[in-house]
Amino acid sequence: MMRAVTIEEFGGPDVLTVQDVARPEPLPTEVLVRVHAAGVNPVDWKTRVGHGMAGLQTFPLILGWDVSGVVEEVGFGVTTLAPGDEVYSMPWFPRAAGAYAEYVTAPARQWARKPATLDHVHAAAVPLAALTAWQALVDTARVQAGQRVLITAAAGGVGHFAVQLARHLGAHVIATASAARHPWLKELGAEEVVDYTATPFEQAVEDVDVVIDLVGDGQDRTGTRSIDVLRPGGLLVAVPGGVSPELAQAAGTAGVRVTPFLVEPDGPALATIAGLIDEGQVAVEVEETFPLDQAGTAHTRGEAGRTRGKLVLTVAG
Ligand SMILES: NC(=O)c1ccc[n+]([C@@H]2O[C@H](COP(=O)([O-])OP(=O)(O)OC[C@H]3O[C@@H](n4cnc5c(N)ncnc54)[C@H](OP(=O)(O)O)[C@@H]3O)[C@@H](O)[C@H]2O)c1
Repeated sequence: MMRAVTIEEFGGPDVLTVQDVARPEPLPTEVLVRVHAAGVNPVDWKTRVGHGMAGLQTFPLILGWDVSGVVEEVGFGVTTLAPGDEVYSMPWFPRAAGAYAEYVTAPARQWARKPATLDHVHAAAVPLAALTAWQALVDTARVQAGQRVLITAAAGGVGHFAVQLARHLGAHVIATASAARHPWLKELGAEEVVDYTATPFEQAVEDVDVVIDLVGDGQDRTGTRSIDVLRPGGLLVAVPGGVSPELAQAAGTAGVRVTPFLVEPDGPALATIAGLIDEGQVAVEVEETFPLDQAGTAHTRGEAGRTRGKLVLTVAG
């Protein structure tokens, strides 16, 4: 058996309760990992209330996709990992991964060795947010050196990785965040920072090649307003909420491109990201940690929408 935070119904933070549940067994090609820390992401609380990836889940549901831990056991056929290896991953997404628990099983190739320079808490803050930034900037937008990239909600989990990775790719990075976060974001590599609470960003920014929008149209129509800052042919990666018919039409009228986006498990990209972290090119910001039995408090904190970097649950070790 193992301890896990389960939910039996969608609802507020109080539906998250610690229960004893059966420990998973690794199938052939899978590894069983003892979870040391689990990252908390907006998709966790969106799914908890019945949105996000809720339609794909069944009860009882163990939330959480970000894991850092130690391989306990390998299934038949696994040759790339062994018991004792320190690994991290965002396995199974968008199927449930069950990261708010003492053990997780997932296919060996969805894991990578955790960054050697990070403890498990900081490693657990990386996978979903950094993979989102990487897959949006590198695989989707194919950002090139010298391009102008706008990142909205740059101070959050995805945003702080996107700023650093865009800078690493040689882009001119423009970020939106409240004023208190500006010195930090400049340290991370943003060359221009707009206080979105004081100035509509489309009045301060222009001629952008790529927008990585992490706010969406649900708040202040940030997605639609991003169209105004793009140069003709530029690309809007609409990370939260996808692309509505209205947004697609507005982009078409303006002569810019827009794409929906959903992050995918990606062990090789996590290995590359671990290398960048260990070289000191990407820093990981954890604002606060919570023990597993305070997952509800972590959700309440995250849902306020003001997190600097990441929130993480400590599980073991
Ligand atoms: N499609 C996908 O595959 C995918 C993957 C990952 C995340 N997402 C989505 O992307 C969004 C961002 O995720 P996240 O993990 O980075 O969230 P997060 O860490 O919770 O974001 C918090 C940050 O958002 C900033 N913020 C809030 N409203 C803002 C606004 N109007 N303009 C600029 N900044 C604003 C806050 O900065 P201040 O405190 O400075 O205001 C805070 O630092 C979420 O909706 C998430 O669900 C989607």
